[in-house]
Amino acid sequence: MNEYLKSNRELWNAWTRVHVKSKFYDVEGFKRGDNRLDAIVREGVGDARGKSLLHLQCHFGLDTLCWARLGARVTGADFSDAAISAARTLAQEVGLDANFVCANIYDLPHALSGEFDIVFTSHGVLPWLPDLNAWARVIAHFLKPGGLFFIAEGHPTAYIFDDENPDDLRVRYPYFHSPEPGKYEAHGSYADRAADIHGAEYEWTHSLGDVINALIAAGLHIEELCEYNFNAWQMFPFMEQDTAGWWRLPERFPQIPLMFSLKAKK
Ligand SMILES: C[S@@+](CC[C@H](N)C(=O)[O-])C[C@H]1O[C@@H](n2cnc3c(N)ncnc32)[C@H](O)[C@@H]1O
Repeated sequence: MNEYLKSNRELWNAWTRVHVKSKFYDVEGFKRGDNRLDAIVREGVGDARGKSLLHLQCHFGLDTLCWARLGARVTGADFSDAAISAARTLAQEVGLDANFVCANIYDLPHALSGEFDIVFTSHGVLPWLPDLNAWARVIAHFLKPGGLFFIAEGHPTAYIFDDENPDDLRVRYPYFHSPEPGKYEAHGSYADRAADIHGAEYEWTHSLGDVINALIAAGLHIEELCEYNFNAWQMFPFMEQDTAGWWRLPERFPQIPLMFSLKAKK
């Protein structure tokens, strides 16, 4: 792993320790039986009962375990050892059968064997990845022929705007990919702004075309691409949460894409 990924992993380890106790992730609600998979993800993946599902960048396994509750045979993978250890503990605590693997996503084919009916990933995953072509090859590697890949993610267009500006959308970040990551100073975490965590965040931008072309180059057939004027998390301070839990721009703004979902088959 290069220095950027090592630094990101340290940050994710620190974030995980805060996230497991955060209101944002609401582990207690999950333990009581809440299913935190959103409607777009659930509908996009469809009925997972009895199917094998690989969850990439699973964090500490909450969504992975929600898929297990819906009847999937689940494997979650993440490069944060703190997250994978928390995921294993949580699975034991709630008595769900799940396999969790700790590996850099690009090394996963060396750490995990088998093919899956479904490869799933969502919400806050792509900016951490330096190379989408290699990412797509990992997805293709783990899918059975005919298997489904599904992603729901922040829209690359939305990532160009300043996420610290208190009252307006201002272009701050590039849209197109560059091999050098952007470096940002993390203070707290997206799940707990006040948390005493400080560290460097290295992130890469990827255009929507990059996502699609990487999957096509890896041999996948794109079946559906949807764009939404809301997102799963609060990207800008002035966003408003609707009754279904989605974060939207106030009405005074022109409606722009904030999230996308994509289905592809091998
Ligand atoms: C925002 S989280 C995914 C969130 C998930 N949807 C959730 O809310 O629980 C992003 C995850 O990507 C993982 N990650 C980042 N870079 C990675 C890499 N190179 N290989 C594997 N996992 C990585 C982090 O450890 C983190 O758990």
